[in-house]
Formats: sequence, C-alpha cells, structure tokens
Amino acid sequence: LSAHFQPKLLAGLRVLVSAGPTLEMIDPVRALTNISSGKMGYAVARAAHEAGAAVTLVSGATCLDAPLGVTRLSVTSAEDMAQAVESVVGDVDIFISVAAVADYRPATRATQKIKKSEHTLTLDLIPNKDILQKIADRADAPFCVGFAAETDNLLEHGEAKRQRKHLPLLVVNRAQDALGSDDNELLLLDDAGNHWLPRAGKLVLARQLIAHIARLYLQKTR
Ligand code: CTP
Ligand code: CA
Repeated sequence: LSAHFQPKLLAGLRVLVSAGPTLEMIDPVRALTNISSGKMGYAVARAAHEAGAAVTLVSGATCLDAPLGVTRLSVTSAEDMAQAVESVVGDVDIFISVAAVADYRPATRATQKIKKSEHTLTLDLIPNKDILQKIADRADAPFCVGFAAETDNLLEHGEAKRQRKHLPLLVVNRAQDALGSDDNELLLLDDAGNHWLPRAGKLVLARQLIAHIARLYLQKTR
C-alpha cells in the first residue's frame, strides 16, 4: 500500500482534504448541489496518507468508504463544511480543497415538503462564503491548494482564479472529463508556470499531485 512513496514525502505533516459535493436543502427532500462523486478528493486523501501525513477528510455526501487510516468528518451543506474545515484547519500544514462547494443556498428552507404545482417555482438564492479563499487569506494560512472544474479556457480561468484566491497551487480539470469518471487529466498552475498530468486513474494522479505538493511545500518552508 505505502510502497508508492519512499521516502515518505509528507512524514510528520498534517493535511486537511475537503471532498465531495455540498447539499443545500430546499425542503426535506430537495436540494441544490454542485455535482461531485468525491472520487478525486478521496484519492488525494489516500495518497496523502500513503505519503506519511496525518490526514483529516471533510466530506460532503458520497457513496465512498473513508480511506483506511484517514479521519473523516461528514457534512451536508456548505455552512457545515465551513464549520468543520475551520475547526481543523488551525492545526494543519496543508489544506487541499477538492470539494465542489455549492455557490448558493436557498434563502429559506421549508420545514415541510413543498407540494408541486403547475406554476413556475422561483427560489431566492444567497451566495455561500468561499471557504478556501477565507482560509488562504489568513496571516497564518496553511499551504493552500485549490481545485477548479472548468468547461472551457482552463488556463485563463484557472490562473485568474488562482490569483483571486491567492493560492500557491491551483489544480484545474475539465468538468466534462472529470465528473463521475474513474480517470482524469489535471492542469497544475503554480508560481513556476503550468503543466499537465496526463490522463490516468484518479489515484495515480493523486499520488503525482501529492509529490508535487510536497516539493512546493518543502521549497516554501525550507
Ligand atoms: N471553494 C470553496 N468555497 C466555496 C466555493 C469554492 O472553498 N464557496 C473552493 C473549492 O473547493 C475549490 C476552489 O474554491 O478548491 C475553486 O472552486 P470553483 O467552484 O472552481 O471556483 P469559484 O470561486 O466558486 O468560481 P466559479 O464556480 O464561478 O467558477
Ligand atoms: Ca463554484
């Protein structure tokens, strides 16, 4: 299991990974979400554990088992996720935000099921706060890594997002290729430029990504 990292690149470090979607409840049976299977985030958590880190995984609703040796905190909404992340992030060295956080939540949540009708239903939506951006802007921020799913202009959208969130590393994937799939292709954007990790299984990519994060982290802290 652990033979992939010799020596253990993240030994002695604490890593927080967020993964999966958030669900923003409209009523007890309906929700808004950003689509995510959680497979990429869980693979990243597993790879970080293999690399010797103590790993906490804050996860939205997925069908996946927690990777062996990883502490999982399960959450539903973006607000729950923010709370869970904030309760742990002060004690970590690296935060890898793979979660697909819903950008909006309904302004009100009906306590009873809304009955359908033939009329249009209009929902008022409130923006959720940006969990990663808020943490990356702290004076004592851990090394923060973002994940972006884009449909087009990956490099331009990705670099703009990396600058806006003040991230040393942003990983971009093509939404059409990544969502639900067992493999993926990643574009890594950092201060040194950009490069692709070519199409492979998500765990293979996660291990390559962890090796890259370990290199950047050590450069920064050495
Ligand atoms: N993110 C977050 N909190 C949010 C929204 C996003 O922490 N409320 C994090 C994601 O986990 C990801 C990164 O920010 O690591 C980029 O998310 P993405 O949805 O691609 O970017 P947004 O800033 O939300 O912009 P948009 O959806 O408009 O592209
Ligand atoms: Ca978003």
